[in-house]
Amino acid sequence: MAQEEKIDSVGLLDENGLAYFIAHAGELEHPRELVIDVLRAIQKNHGWVPDEGVELTATILGLEPIDVEEVATFYDKIFRRPVGRYPIHICDSICCWSNGGEELAELFQQKLGIAFGQTTEDGLFTLLPSCCLGVCGQAPAVMIHQRHYGPLSADDVDELIERLRREASE
Ligand code: FES
Repeated sequence: MAQEEKIDSVGLLDENGLAYFIAHAGELEHPRELVIDVLRAIQKNHGWVPDEGVELTATILGLEPIDVEEVATFYDKIFRRPVGRYPIHICDSICCWSNGGEELAELFQQKLGIAFGQTTEDGLFTLLPSCCLGVCGQAPAVMIHQRHYGPLSADDVDELIERLRREASE
């Protein structure tokens, strides 16, 4: 494991976070278990995970960057490119699909004027398709920053977007 003083976290992790992960990695037989946790911490600080974040994670955990990259690109809640302040994951799996998920996805695209994979010009919203979010009883559902919303009607979509815009302007 790398020593804390030799690691430059380039503003991706604060000192406490860096120290925590180094210490925790040292206690584990397989520090690889922490890959997602470190990436999520970086994403929380930075909004997304740049190449430097992948390298930092590898250094902290004593892995090769390719090991971290494989996890980062497999897990669709880790962003390897900049996203809006509110990344909206819209579920396209069976329960949501059969309960109006396609219409919901269409509605979000119309209301925000963007397609999947795009970010609104004001930098607030990014639309992303997602496999099952694990809340099938709330279908059709979306997730924004670990929080689930559903079942969503057309009125709910308007209200949600407006609420987030208000929150962003406060
Ligand atoms: S199918 Fe959408 S949350 Fe499970």
